[in-house]
Amino acid sequence: MNDVLLIHGGVGWAEPPRIDMNAIISSVDLGQGSVNAAVKAVSFLEDDPRFNAGTGSFPRIDGSVQMDAAVMAAGNFGAVIGIEKVRNPVLVALAVMNSSPHNVLSGDGAIRFARIMGFEEYDPMTPENRNRLEKLLEDIKAGNPGNNPRIASFSRKIDPEKLIGTDTVGAIARINGRFSAAVSTGGVFPMMRGRVGDVPFIGCGFYAGDKGAAVATGIGEEIMKRLLCYSIYSRMGKEDLQDIVRDEIEKFGVNLAGVIAITKDQEATFANGNMAVGRKASHV
Ligand code: GLY
Repeated sequence: MNDVLLIHGGVGWAEPPRIDMNAIISSVDLGQGSVNAAVKAVSFLEDDPRFNAGTGSFPRIDGSVQMDAAVMAAGNFGAVIGIEKVRNPVLVALAVMNSSPHNVLSGDGAIRFARIMGFEEYDPMTPENRNRLEKLLEDIKAGNPGNNPRIASFSRKIDPEKLIGTDTVGAIARINGRFSAAVSTGGVFPMMRGRVGDVPFIGCGFYAGDKGAAVATGIGEEIMKRLLCYSIYSRMGKEDLQDIVRDEIEKFGVNLAGVIAITKDQEATFANGNMAVGRKASHV
Protein backbone atom coordinates (compact mmCIF):
# COMPACT_ATOMS: atom_id res chain seq x y z
CA MET A 1 0.00 0.00 0.00
CA ASN A 2 1.57 3.32 -1.00
CA ASP A 3 1.44 6.49 1.08
CA VAL A 4 -0.85 9.16 -0.36
CA LEU A 5 -1.72 12.76 0.48
CA LEU A 6 -4.69 14.34 -1.32
CA ILE A 7 -5.77 17.99 -1.10
CA HIS A 8 -8.51 20.24 -2.43
CA GLY A 9 -8.78 24.01 -2.63
CA GLY A 10 -12.56 24.31 -2.32
CA VAL A 11 -15.48 24.06 -4.71
CA GLY A 12 -17.11 27.12 -6.31
CA TRP A 13 -14.43 28.65 -8.52
CA ALA A 14 -16.01 30.67 -11.34
CA GLU A 15 -13.63 28.95 -13.79
CA PRO A 16 -11.50 25.83 -13.49
CA PRO A 17 -8.66 27.06 -11.25
CA ARG A 18 -5.24 27.17 -12.88
CA ILE A 19 -3.33 26.41 -9.73
CA ASP A 20 -0.60 23.79 -9.48
CA MET A 21 -1.94 22.08 -6.35
CA ASN A 22 0.71 19.35 -6.52
CA ALA A 23 3.41 22.01 -6.27
CA ILE A 24 1.82 23.47 -3.12
CA ILE A 25 2.35 20.19 -1.26
CA SER A 26 5.55 19.07 -2.99
CA SER A 27 7.59 19.84 0.13
CA VAL A 28 5.28 18.02 2.55
CA ASP A 29 7.24 15.16 4.10
CA LEU A 30 5.04 12.05 4.08
CA GLY A 31 7.49 10.51 6.54
CA GLN A 32 6.15 12.73 9.34
CA GLY A 33 3.04 10.56 9.54
CA SER A 34 -0.55 10.78 8.46
CA VAL A 35 -1.91 13.51 10.76
CA ASN A 36 1.11 15.79 10.51
CA ALA A 37 1.25 15.50 6.72
CA ALA A 38 -2.45 16.37 6.34
CA VAL A 39 -2.14 19.28 8.76
CA LYS A 40 1.01 20.60 7.08
CA ALA A 41 -0.73 20.49 3.68
CA VAL A 42 -3.71 22.46 5.01
CA SER A 43 -1.40 24.98 6.70
CA PHE A 44 0.23 25.65 3.29
CA LEU A 45 -3.22 26.24 1.79
CA GLU A 46 -4.14 28.53 4.71
CA ASP A 47 -1.02 30.61 4.02
CA ASP A 48 -1.93 31.02 0.35
CA PRO A 49 -4.32 34.02 -0.02
CA ARG A 50 -5.94 32.51 -3.11
CA PHE A 51 -7.86 30.15 -0.83
CA ASN A 52 -10.67 30.89 1.60
CA ALA A 53 -8.93 29.66 4.76
CA GLY A 54 -6.38 31.25 7.08
CA THR A 55 -4.94 34.25 5.18
CA GLY A 56 -7.60 34.97 2.55
CA SER A 57 -10.56 33.92 4.70
CA PHE A 58 -13.78 35.69 3.76
CA PRO A 59 -14.90 38.40 6.21
CA ARG A 60 -18.28 38.40 7.92
CA ILE A 61 -20.69 41.22 7.10
CA ASP A 62 -19.54 43.02 10.27
CA GLY A 63 -15.94 43.01 8.98
CA SER A 64 -14.63 40.36 11.35
CA VAL A 65 -12.89 37.19 10.17
CA GLN A 66 -13.99 34.07 12.02
CA MET A 67 -12.55 30.73 10.92
CA ASP A 68 -13.32 27.06 11.52
CA ALA A 69 -10.90 24.12 11.30
CA ALA A 70 -10.67 20.47 12.28
CA VAL A 71 -8.22 17.59 12.39
CA MET A 72 -9.02 13.90 12.73
CA ALA A 73 -7.03 10.72 13.06
CA ALA A 74 -8.73 7.37 13.57
CA GLY A 75 -10.28 7.56 17.01
CA ASN A 76 -9.43 11.16 17.84
CA PHE A 77 -10.24 14.68 16.64
CA GLY A 78 -9.88 18.36 17.48
CA ALA A 79 -11.69 21.40 16.13
CA VAL A 80 -12.00 25.15 16.52
CA ILE A 81 -15.11 27.18 15.80
CA GLY A 82 -15.18 30.89 14.99
CA ILE A 83 -11.53 31.44 15.88
CA GLU A 84 -10.12 34.91 15.12
CA LYS A 85 -6.72 36.57 14.81
CA VAL A 86 -4.60 33.47 14.24
CA ARG A 87 -2.62 32.58 11.14
CA ASN A 88 -3.26 28.83 11.03
CA PRO A 89 -6.55 27.63 12.55
CA VAL A 90 -5.68 24.03 11.55
CA LEU A 91 -2.66 24.12 13.85
CA VAL A 92 -4.86 25.27 16.73
CA ALA A 93 -7.29 22.41 15.95
CA LEU A 94 -4.33 20.01 16.13
CA ALA A 95 -3.33 21.50 19.48
CA VAL A 96 -6.91 21.07 20.74
CA MET A 97 -6.68 17.38 19.81
CA ASN A 98 -3.22 16.80 21.22
CA SER A 99 -2.89 19.24 24.11
CA SER A 100 -6.32 20.03 25.54
CA PRO A 101 -8.79 17.94 27.53
CA HIS A 102 -11.47 18.78 24.93
CA ASN A 103 -12.37 18.01 21.34
CA VAL A 104 -13.79 21.39 20.31
CA LEU A 105 -13.12 24.96 21.41
CA SER A 106 -15.02 27.97 20.14
CA GLY A 107 -14.84 31.75 20.02
CA ASP A 108 -12.90 33.60 22.69
CA GLY A 109 -12.03 30.34 24.45
CA ALA A 110 -10.39 29.04 21.27
CA ILE A 111 -8.46 32.30 20.89
CA ARG A 112 -7.35 32.21 24.53
CA PHE A 113 -6.21 28.60 24.15
CA ALA A 114 -4.30 29.53 20.99
CA ARG A 115 -2.44 32.28 22.84
CA ILE A 116 -1.61 29.93 25.73
CA MET A 117 -0.22 27.49 23.16
CA GLY A 118 1.98 30.23 21.69
CA PHE A 119 0.02 31.17 18.56
CA GLU A 120 0.67 34.86 18.00
CA GLU A 121 -1.93 37.47 17.06
CA TYR A 122 -2.34 37.66 13.28
CA ASP A 123 -4.78 39.45 10.96
CA PRO A 124 -5.92 37.12 8.13
CA MET A 125 -7.79 39.87 6.24
CA THR A 126 -6.40 40.54 2.76
CA PRO A 127 -6.85 43.78 0.73
CA GLU A 128 -8.92 41.78 -1.81
CA ASN A 129 -11.33 40.64 0.89
CA ARG A 130 -11.52 44.13 2.41
CA ASN A 131 -12.58 45.43 -1.03
CA ARG A 132 -15.03 42.56 -1.45
CA LEU A 133 -16.66 43.44 1.86
CA GLU A 134 -16.79 47.16 1.12
CA LYS A 135 -18.49 46.46 -2.20
CA LEU A 136 -20.98 44.15 -0.49
CA LEU A 137 -21.87 46.73 2.15
CA GLU A 138 -22.28 49.43 -0.50
CA ASP A 139 -24.58 47.15 -2.50
CA ILE A 140 -26.63 46.24 0.55
CA LYS A 141 -26.99 49.92 1.49
CA ALA A 142 -28.03 50.79 -2.06
CA GLY A 143 -30.41 47.83 -2.22
CA ASN A 144 -28.49 46.81 -5.30
CA PRO A 145 -27.82 43.13 -5.76
CA GLY A 146 -25.48 43.88 -8.70
CA ASN A 147 -23.89 40.65 -9.86
CA ASN A 148 -24.50 39.06 -6.49
CA PRO A 149 -28.05 37.73 -6.28
CA ARG A 150 -27.30 36.44 -2.81
CA ILE A 151 -27.37 39.99 -1.51
CA ALA A 152 -31.00 40.35 -2.52
CA SER A 153 -32.00 37.23 -0.65
CA PHE A 154 -29.50 37.44 2.16
CA SER A 155 -31.90 38.72 4.79
CA ARG A 156 -34.39 35.98 3.92
CA LYS A 157 -32.16 32.98 3.30
CA ILE A 158 -28.87 31.88 1.85
CA ASP A 159 -29.03 31.32 -1.92
CA PRO A 160 -26.43 28.62 -2.31
CA GLU A 161 -26.69 28.45 -6.09
CA LYS A 162 -25.17 31.89 -6.27
CA LEU A 163 -22.29 31.29 -3.92
CA ILE A 164 -19.48 33.66 -4.70
CA GLY A 165 -15.93 32.40 -4.43
CA THR A 166 -14.64 29.13 -3.08
CA ASP A 167 -14.82 27.70 0.34
CA THR A 168 -12.77 25.45 2.54
CA VAL A 169 -9.46 23.75 2.00
CA GLY A 170 -8.86 20.15 3.01
CA ALA A 171 -6.41 17.28 3.06
CA ILE A 172 -6.63 13.55 3.65
CA ALA A 173 -3.74 11.15 4.07
CA ARG A 174 -3.10 7.42 4.11
CA ILE A 175 0.38 6.91 5.50
CA ASN A 176 1.64 3.61 6.94
CA GLY A 177 -1.96 2.43 6.64
CA ARG A 178 -3.25 5.19 8.95
CA PHE A 179 -5.91 7.64 7.80
CA SER A 180 -6.23 11.32 8.68
CA ALA A 181 -8.27 14.34 7.68
CA ALA A 182 -7.70 18.09 8.09
CA VAL A 183 -9.96 20.98 7.03
CA SER A 184 -10.05 24.75 7.36
CA THR A 185 -12.36 27.52 6.16
CA GLY A 186 -13.27 31.17 6.33
CA GLY A 187 -16.90 30.14 5.66
CA VAL A 188 -19.11 31.37 2.82
CA PHE A 189 -19.81 34.89 1.52
CA PRO A 190 -21.85 36.75 2.58
CA MET A 191 -22.52 35.47 6.09
CA MET A 192 -23.38 36.76 9.51
CA ARG A 193 -20.98 36.84 12.44
CA GLY A 194 -21.45 33.63 14.40
CA ARG A 195 -22.52 31.54 11.41
CA VAL A 196 -20.88 28.08 11.52
CA GLY A 197 -20.72 25.68 8.57
CA ASP A 198 -19.84 22.00 8.28
CA VAL A 199 -16.09 22.20 8.80
CA PRO A 200 -15.79 21.85 12.59
CA PHE A 201 -18.51 19.18 12.91
CA ILE A 202 -17.34 15.56 12.96
CA GLY A 203 -18.93 13.48 10.22
CA CYS A 204 -20.05 16.61 8.33
CA GLY A 205 -16.95 18.34 6.93
CA PHE A 206 -14.51 15.58 7.82
CA TYR A 207 -14.18 11.99 8.99
CA ALA A 208 -11.28 9.56 9.35
CA GLY A 209 -11.36 6.00 10.68
CA ASP A 210 -9.87 2.58 10.15
CA LYS A 211 -11.59 2.22 6.73
CA GLY A 212 -10.51 5.55 5.24
CA ALA A 213 -10.97 9.31 5.32
CA ALA A 214 -13.03 12.02 3.63
CA VAL A 215 -13.20 15.83 3.67
CA ALA A 216 -15.90 18.00 2.15
CA THR A 217 -16.31 21.43 0.61
CA GLY A 218 -19.44 23.34 -0.34
CA ILE A 219 -22.48 24.82 1.32
CA GLY A 220 -22.01 23.98 4.97
CA GLU A 221 -25.71 24.17 5.76
CA GLU A 222 -26.44 21.43 3.19
CA ILE A 223 -23.39 19.29 4.06
CA MET A 224 -24.44 19.24 7.72
CA LYS A 225 -27.96 18.09 6.93
CA ARG A 226 -26.54 15.10 5.07
CA LEU A 227 -23.70 14.25 7.49
CA LEU A 228 -21.74 14.02 4.26
CA CYS A 229 -18.34 12.66 5.30
CA TYR A 230 -19.72 10.04 7.67
CA SER A 231 -22.29 9.02 5.04
CA ILE A 232 -19.39 8.37 2.67
CA TYR A 233 -17.31 6.66 5.36
CA SER A 234 -20.16 4.30 6.32
CA ARG A 235 -20.31 3.01 2.71
CA MET A 236 -16.54 2.53 2.32
CA GLY A 237 -15.45 -1.03 1.56
CA LYS A 238 -18.93 -2.04 0.37
CA GLU A 239 -18.96 -0.24 -3.00
CA ASP A 240 -16.59 1.41 -5.43
CA LEU A 241 -15.34 4.63 -3.79
CA GLN A 242 -15.84 6.82 -6.88
CA ASP A 243 -19.45 5.58 -7.16
CA ILE A 244 -20.03 6.41 -3.49
CA VAL A 245 -18.75 9.98 -3.70
CA ARG A 246 -20.57 10.67 -6.97
CA ASP A 247 -23.80 9.34 -5.52
CA GLU A 248 -23.50 11.37 -2.32
CA ILE A 249 -22.63 14.60 -4.16
CA GLU A 250 -25.40 14.17 -6.73
CA LYS A 251 -27.88 14.28 -3.82
CA PHE A 252 -26.97 17.99 -3.43
CA GLY A 253 -28.68 18.98 -6.70
CA VAL A 254 -27.81 22.63 -7.45
CA ASN A 255 -26.19 23.19 -4.06
CA LEU A 256 -22.41 23.29 -4.41
CA ALA A 257 -20.59 20.36 -2.86
CA GLY A 258 -17.38 18.43 -3.36
CA VAL A 259 -15.40 15.77 -1.61
CA ILE A 260 -12.08 13.95 -1.63
CA ALA A 261 -11.91 10.47 -0.12
CA ILE A 262 -9.46 7.61 0.34
CA THR A 263 -9.57 4.00 1.47
CA LYS A 264 -7.00 1.21 1.75
CA ASP A 265 -7.02 0.67 -2.02
CA GLN A 266 -8.94 3.55 -3.64
CA GLU A 267 -8.90 7.34 -4.00
CA ALA A 268 -11.78 9.48 -5.25
CA THR A 269 -12.60 13.12 -5.88
CA PHE A 270 -15.93 14.50 -7.05
CA ALA A 271 -17.57 17.93 -7.09
CA ASN A 272 -20.59 19.51 -8.78
CA GLY A 273 -18.55 22.70 -9.42
CA ASN A 274 -14.97 23.64 -10.17
CA MET A 275 -12.61 22.27 -7.52
CA ALA A 276 -8.80 22.25 -7.47
CA VAL A 277 -7.22 19.03 -6.25
CA GLY A 278 -3.64 17.90 -5.70
CA ARG A 279 -1.82 14.71 -4.83
CA LYS A 280 1.47 13.49 -3.49
CA ALA A 281 2.35 9.81 -3.19
CA SER A 282 5.28 7.58 -2.39
CA HIS A 283 5.69 3.83 -2.62
CA VAL A 284 6.59 1.92 0.52
N1 GLY B 1 -17.99 24.52 3.71
C1 GLY B 1 -17.62 25.65 4.46
C2 GLY B 1 -18.70 26.34 5.08
O1 GLY B 1 -19.87 26.18 4.69
O2 GLY B 1 -18.46 27.08 6.00
